[in-house]
Amino acid sequence: MKHLNLKTATFIFVCIFSFSLFTACKKEKEISEVQKMLKLMTLEQKAQLVIGTGMLIELPEEMTKFMPDSILAKMPSGFNGIVKSKDTNYIKMVEKLWTYLPGTAGVTAEFSSLNITSQVLTDGPAGLRIKPIHKNTNQTFYCTAFPIATVLASTWDTHLVYSVGKAMGEEVKEYGSDILLAPALNIQRDPLCGRNFEYYSEDPLLTGKMAAAMVNGVQSNEVGTSIKHFAANNSETNRLSVNTIVSERALREIYLKGFEIAVKEAQPWTVMSSYNKINGTYASESEDLLTKILRDDWGFEGYVMTDWGGGSDLVAQMNAGNDMIQPGTPQQVEQLIELVKSGKLDENILDRNLERILNIMLKTPRFNNHSISNKPNLEAHASITRKAATDGMVLLKNDNKALPILKEVKNIATFGVTSLDIIAGGTGSGDVNEAYTISLFDGLINGGLTPDSELAEIYTKHIENEKAKNLKSGNFLTDFMGGTVPVAEMSVSKEIAAKMANKNDIALITIGRNSGEGGDRKAESGDFYLNENEKEMIQNVSEAFHKNGKKVIVILNIGGVIETASWNSLPDAILCAWQPGQEAGNSIVDILKGDVNPSGKLAVSFPMSYDDTPTAKNFPGQEVKLVGEEDDKPDQSGFSFMKRVPWEIVYEEGIYVGYRYYNTFGVPVAYEFGYGLSYSTFEFSNLHLNSNKFEDNLQIYVDVKNTGHIAGREVVQIYISAPQGQLGKPEEELVAFAKTKSLQPGESERITFKIAAMDFASFNEKNSGWVVESGEYILKVGASSKDIRDKNTFTVSEDLNLETVSKALIPQQKINELKK
Ligand code: BGC
Repeated sequence: MKHLNLKTATFIFVCIFSFSLFTACKKEKEISEVQKMLKLMTLEQKAQLVIGTGMLIELPEEMTKFMPDSILAKMPSGFNGIVKSKDTNYIKMVEKLWTYLPGTAGVTAEFSSLNITSQVLTDGPAGLRIKPIHKNTNQTFYCTAFPIATVLASTWDTHLVYSVGKAMGEEVKEYGSDILLAPALNIQRDPLCGRNFEYYSEDPLLTGKMAAAMVNGVQSNEVGTSIKHFAANNSETNRLSVNTIVSERALREIYLKGFEIAVKEAQPWTVMSSYNKINGTYASESEDLLTKILRDDWGFEGYVMTDWGGGSDLVAQMNAGNDMIQPGTPQQVEQLIELVKSGKLDENILDRNLERILNIMLKTPRFNNHSISNKPNLEAHASITRKAATDGMVLLKNDNKALPILKEVKNIATFGVTSLDIIAGGTGSGDVNEAYTISLFDGLINGGLTPDSELAEIYTKHIENEKAKNLKSGNFLTDFMGGTVPVAEMSVSKEIAAKMANKNDIALITIGRNSGEGGDRKAESGDFYLNENEKEMIQNVSEAFHKNGKKVIVILNIGGVIETASWNSLPDAILCAWQPGQEAGNSIVDILKGDVNPSGKLAVSFPMSYDDTPTAKNFPGQEVKLVGEEDDKPDQSGFSFMKRVPWEIVYEEGIYVGYRYYNTFGVPVAYEFGYGLSYSTFEFSNLHLNSNKFEDNLQIYVDVKNTGHIAGREVVQIYISAPQGQLGKPEEELVAFAKTKSLQPGESERITFKIAAMDFASFNEKNSGWVVESGEYILKVGASSKDIRDKNTFTVSEDLNLETVSKALIPQQKINELKK
């Protein structure tokens, strides 16, 4: 026996030793390979690699004729098909790069004599965004429009999100991209942010876990991701110049936390810095953000790229650790060369940044000669999409078991323009060119039901008429990128409602909203609030159908939160389907029929009114009057279609974002964070902790039982209420969550959690450290942030001073106070 042990031990030792040697050698080889490349690169080539090669943009003349010359002069290569450079070799190279993947957002330079290959960088969060039709081939290049990020977060299921990422990554690889410009994980600070649909949640833990799962899923294909927009980019108004003023504590606990989790748990290949300034400095020029926090504190190993046209000062960007400028202009290439020649930019810094870019290049499919099939498994991905969407839909109301619809229900009246013209996802770079989108109408037919064709005809005509008007959304980027503008809702008279109620078994009403980058939504009717036609539609249809003893179901086809409190008493059920991706109609019908039992939970609170939100007072910020020197400073912006208006937004609410605010200050909401109904019921029992005294970690056990009549899944949410201490704490904070397997009626599952001190620590600005203050803590297990099913307590006997991190991103006001 002894002999065997010795043999085994020797064997293990030899294995470990050889493996370490192999890894060390591999690393050594990589380093030397990159160093070798660097040594051979000319300054021109270096500049051409850190600056992107432009972007193929074809704008119609009616748009360009209004652009001032100052903006036109700064357009990237590729603008209207022209590469502006004196260097003919460069022109040839760039023209070739653009053929690699039509529709991609960026491509980096390649130098074949040095074995440096191009990296193709492609949007975005809901699926690969490329041109579906390419010149000189009949083949199509459609991608899967997966559910928007808010849907994925509402699944609370990291395994599912991993599988979505895996599928998305396969399309990235098989269509010939190297890096997906996703996931986007800014906090949904205010319901009106135009890009909320691209983001996960108002909570940093849920955000971080979702993003990490997505990155791991995508990168399992050996392609990269770019987590974005780093950081504190929570609104779109004047996004290129907005200065976000935010406390260090709110940054660390709320706005950076998700990124920290994603970096530590998934090591994304790249990070995209955001457009905005943080406490006075552009994110892409902030060494605090990109070096001290991202690399020194968190251990990020990849490279950082700007958002497209972000920031202003090349030297500051290079020094800060913003390794790559996207999309890049030929002027920037020339400027960079001059900066090095004149000694304003240290070439060693340039080399440092290049080394990071080249290290990632070594991992890319293109460098590793992956042969592109152009045939990802779109069919399999459509099923993943269909499932992910059903799991992220949230059942907000279900009086008297209005859902699932009864077997006898066959004839269905579908009201609302988005029943036919359903919105799969938001606009801008987060939009996907999918082959098809299943409308609710078609989903019903696919599900063996009969939507009313007379009503559909009325809507079809209305939609056609409205579309013929060629209405624009008013958001330049949406209009220019061909995003869908929701058709205005038509009025539904009492007569039509009555007629439909007579001949149909049930009514479905969809309410649709869309938005996208470059613009925020408004707290107005037709946007955050329903407009008159929508209110009248819900009112008249509910009255008519109820008179006939028939049910009314409202389906929200939205990308961000809307007001529901003033009308939610009218219908029998409300399903928040969000923007569910290309299988939209099929996914919704899976829930309506009960083929899938809803298990989504809100990742964001639905306030009673917009004025109730903690951020309403200062969203989306205000213009700043510059004085003196600042005023005369020329606009040094990179390429951009938009003017840089000096703008500021103050995050006065600090850490009290979303439910942290509503629950602490007792502000009622329409639907709380973590809320969502099921067709079944679940009982939580036997909550217990391994100890009531906190030492290194806490183990939590809870049993969940399906007490209903159909199989279903429940999300178990663990919140902690901390003592107020020196720092002050929200009423509760989410510290862990898990989703059960599908439980049969009567079946139970024991869920176990392990939480560490860092999971509920606070950030102390005084010493830039994380601390758990001593006192009695309440641990709550809930089915939502308000529906707390059981509690327990534990004590922390003395302050636990955890990690201290870089002193960084101090607000100006605080610097002034410190100086006093
Ligand atoms: C967006 C990014 C996107 C990039 C490239 C920018 O306008 O903010 O999210 O990845 O364009 O399309």
